[in-house]
Amino acid sequence: MWATNAKIVGIVLGTLALYTLIANKIPQVQSEVPQALTLGANVTPEQLVAAGQKVYTGIGGCTTCHGLGERAPNLLTDEKGQGPIGARCGKREPGKTCKQYLYESLDNPTAFVVSGYQPIMPVMTKQLSPAQVWSVIAFLESQGGAVDVSASDIPASSPTSTTSPGGGGGGGTAFAGGSTDPKVIIQAAGCLACHKLEGQGQVIAPDLTHVGSRRDAESIRKKILDPASSVTKGYEKLAGIMPKSFGTMMNAAQLEALAQYLAAHK
Ligand code: HEC
Ligand code: HEC
Repeated sequence: MWATNAKIVGIVLGTLALYTLIANKIPQVQSEVPQALTLGANVTPEQLVAAGQKVYTGIGGCTTCHGLGERAPNLLTDEKGQGPIGARCGKREPGKTCKQYLYESLDNPTAFVVSGYQPIMPVMTKQLSPAQVWSVIAFLESQGGAVDVSASDIPASSPTSTTSPGGGGGGGTAFAGGSTDPKVIIQAAGCLACHKLEGQGQVIAPDLTHVGSRRDAESIRKKILDPASSVTKGYEKLAGIMPKSFGTMMNAAQLEALAQYLAAHK
């Protein structure tokens, strides 16, 4: 009797362990915040790389664009015979070390635009804390290169937790409370101060209710990031009115949610 119960308990525990294992193997979802990690003065390169990998696949939203092929250069795998990013970062701009180049890529992405690509990369230092930025740099360096990021690169005054977003932009809180609900994002961005959507809002700018029949998600994303990229026919006189700041306010996951939501408005 006792032996049978023990067997059942064993099977149940075994099953639970298996499911936990499977659950842990499922890749992290975009918006999932990486585990808290405190980067003290003694942080090792290995810890930085591990934290950076979580930022890269999680809160940083880098995989929205990178690693999918056409939209952005491969970072973790070879790009046009130049190797992964850690191997090519030191050769991109004369006089810039790998670390300097990677920081510039995240802080001022349009300073050097990789040929063959559009300048659509958001300013990451506005969305991520310095600890998150420097750990993601360490992670990128580890992809085929040597990691030379250390605790001294991370400003002492910065929050040391890699989970707090928005620290890089002057300590502001996350845009739209970090929500990826397109309606909340539209509300926070004030799109309807100019546009109409499903009967709500103003008529200064094109009605977005059927914008998906004119533009795909790619085109909408581009328009939000760089309103000057394509002016809507018939609205030439109003070109330049649409604010250019959305790309720096929203994080990549929010931008993607908004673009997909509008593209579905056929
Ligand atoms: C909205 C799309 C998008 C997102 C999100 C994005 N990037 Fe980019 N990124 C690009 C594009 C496009 C380029 C190439 C054009 C350029 O240089 O600006 C690029 C270039 C880069 C480069 C230079 C690559 C090279 O070969 O020299 C690095 C490094 C980089 N991104 C890192 C990141 C990291 C890290 C994140 C996340 C924190 C990220 N990117 C998020 C689109 C994106
Ligand atoms: C201050 C007014 C204003 C605000 C705020 C504004 N836009 Fe616009 N938008 C315009 C104007 C004017 C146009 C048409 C002229 C042009 O293409 O630049 C436009 C065009 C567009 C287009 C192209 C429409 C089409 O039919 O091709 C999209 C998509 C768009 N806006 C999305 C947005 C989103 C999303 C937001 C909020 C994040 C937003 N806009 C906020 C003024 C605004």
